[in-house]
Order: sequence, then C-alpha cells, then structure tokens
Amino acid sequence: MATKVGVIGAGGMLQYHVPGFQQGGGEVIAIADVNEAAAQASADHWSIPKVYADTAEFLKSDLDAVSIIVPNKFHAPLAIQALEAGKHVFCEKPPALNAAEVVEMKAAAEKAGKVLMFNFNNRARPESQAMMKYIADGTVGTLNSAQSQWTRRTGIPGFGGWFTTKALSGGGPVIDLLHMVDLSLYFMGYPEPAHVLGQTFNDFITDPGHKGPWGIPDNAEGSTDVEAAAHGFVTFKSGQVLSIRTSWAEMNEREVVSVVFQGSKAGGKVERLFGIDGLDETAIDSCELYVQENGNSVNRSIITEACEDMGRTASAANFVATIEGTAQPLNTPDEALKLMQIIDALYQSAGSGTPVSL
Ligand SMILES: NC(=O)c1ccc[n+]([C@@H]2O[C@H](COP(=O)([O-])OP(=O)(O)OC[C@H]3O[C@@H](n4cnc5c(N)ncnc54)[C@H](O)[C@@H]3O)[C@@H](O)[C@H]2O)c1
Repeated sequence: MATKVGVIGAGGMLQYHVPGFQQGGGEVIAIADVNEAAAQASADHWSIPKVYADTAEFLKSDLDAVSIIVPNKFHAPLAIQALEAGKHVFCEKPPALNAAEVVEMKAAAEKAGKVLMFNFNNRARPESQAMMKYIADGTVGTLNSAQSQWTRRTGIPGFGGWFTTKALSGGGPVIDLLHMVDLSLYFMGYPEPAHVLGQTFNDFITDPGHKGPWGIPDNAEGSTDVEAAAHGFVTFKSGQVLSIRTSWAEMNEREVVSVVFQGSKAGGKVERLFGIDGLDETAIDSCELYVQENGNSVNRSIITEACEDMGRTASAANFVATIEGTAQPLNTPDEALKLMQIIDALYQSAGSGTPVSL
C-alpha cells in the first residue's frame, strides 16, 4: 500500500514535494491551508482529492504522513500536532524558530514512534551524495575545516512579510539559508559544537534595490526586523572548525552557494554559482576534490547528473522511502537540534558581542 501523504501549506514547494512523494512510493491524498482557495487551487493542479481549511479535521483523515510547508513559526506546533495524531512528519526548513522548539518536536516524535525529518534538500543533491561517497570511503580523511557560504547580493524575500518578521521567521538569512551550514556539518559527521562566535549586519535590509526576484509581495504594515547578513565561526569538541557566511543583502560579487572543506587527505568543494541572484536556471553547479598525486596538485572534477531543483524532489522521495523502509533517512532530529543550537548561539553571540559556549 502506498504511503498516504497530506500536505499543510499550498506553497511553491509543492512543485517538488508532490512528484518527490510519488517517486518515493507515496500518494498525496489531502491538502490543508488556512487559505482554502489556495488549497483548492493546488488540489486542482496536482489532482489532490481532499481539501481542508481546518488542520484538526485534516489530521483526522486517513493519512500516514504529513508534509509541513508553512511559515517557520508554525513548523513546531503543526509538527507536534501531527505527531500526536500518529502521523510521520516531513517539515520544511528551518526545523523550527529555535532549538527549544526542536527539543519538543523530537520528544513528540519519540513518544509517537514516528519518523520526523526535515527538508535539508541540499543533502539530496547529486553533488552532495557523490561527495559523501569520497568522504565515506576515506579519500578525504578527517574534515578538519569547512567554510559554508550562501551569500546573496539582492535576495531579500520581500519587505514586511513573514520572512522579514523575526517573530514569524526566527531570523533572516542565518535561519533561512541554513542549508550550507547543514551540508558542512553533514560532511563533517555532525560533530558536537563547542563554541560559536558571530556577528550580524543590518545594512540594506530596508533597501528595495536589494529585493530578490521571486515576486514576494511587500507589506507596508509589516515589520522588517531581521539581519541582512551574518558571519560566524564554530569550533567543535572534535577539534574541527566551521566558518559561516550568509546574506540576503551584502555587497558580494554574485550569489554563491557552497561548502568548501580541507581534509587530512584531500580538500573539496560543492558549489552553485548563480548568474543572477535567485534565478536557479542561471546557475552552474560544480563538485571538486583537491588531492596531491604523483607529485602534482590535482583538481578532480566530479561530474554528476544536472539537478536544477537542488535535491528538493529527491529529498521528498527520501522521506517516503524512509517510511516504507526502502531507504535510510537523509537526516535525523538530533542533527536538526545541533544545527538549531548553532544558529541560536550565533544570534546570541551577535547580541552579546562575546563567544557562546555550548
Ligand atoms: N527547502 C527549500 O528550498 C525551501 C524553499 C522555499 C521555502 N521553503 C520553506 O517553506 C516554508 C513555506 O514557505 P513559502 O514561501 O511557501 O510560504 P508562504 O507564505 O507562501 O505560505 C505557504 C502557505 O502556507 C499557508 N499557511 C500559513 N500559515 C498556515 C497555518 N498555520 N496552517 C495552514 N496553512 C498555513 C499560507 O496560506 C500559504 O498558502 C517555509 O518554512 C520556508 O522556509 C523551503
């Protein structure tokens, strides 16, 4: 029997989630949204039979799993509600507003005995999976250090909407573009963080010239109280170190999405370089290993299949395949918790001006 999936939130990610859940062996049978018209429009487009405006009614229906694609503030309450109703949960990133909420989500999943996974879709990219094979087979050795970067120059997702309202989003690019921090930690073996030092910057955060190209509407009544950019450094109990650069609006050459690392045997890079900020179809992906061979410095270029959607479809497929027992989960609640602890600490350090020990 195919896993029966219901979706909360009729947002743009459905274009990847619906085919992904089907690819993993599931079927999408219900959609809920506080905006019933939006739910109905998505249901018509994707041939989803049942539509709900009320999440409690939706959760009473015959679902095995729930996918949560709503603004960040609602991730934890909806995930906990779905887990308590006995459903497996696939939650969009960020896992929640902060680590304390992830603790509650993890406890709810453990109590229910259900799968709780997050959409860290960049792990499912062909480049990331190819790189993981070189890390797993020992080619790289120990990853001593990594640099995570997701920097946009003109990428503010609208002014005054939920993205720029800290109470609804949890923060700006630090929390929104957390993918490369997660991917670095995935490559590093998700070590235990020891200390975090960071700073945030607010230049350009209200400048319309730095708005992203996605057509997200502005809300003149809303607030814009999140950072525009951040820089941070994390040390781990293992001795490994990670640096973090992220921005929606900062004077960078162009949008860069990358993890670069230095291992005890080889270095490497997984990178997406954008032609124009925010437009995926202008991007070029690359995956490289740096080794010394026969007395030469050799840059190995790893060619993988093209994947414009940054692993989004494959990530959704992995969730259903995990439930069905045909794949291992690409991420765990423990990892989501460590990631959110690092993000909390970066904001705390930016606020206090001092390093934060974990
Ligand atoms: N993984 C990725 O690459 C990626 C990309 C974009 C967005 N996201 C994440 O997806 C989530 C949604 O982002 P979006 O841009 O689609 O947001 P959005 O503002 O378009 O909202 C999506 C839908 O959720 C509905 N909604 C809001 N609150 C709700 C609630 N409490 N219950 C039910 N429905 C509710 C809205 O009516 C809307 O139709 C965010 O967490 C975002 O970070 C992830």
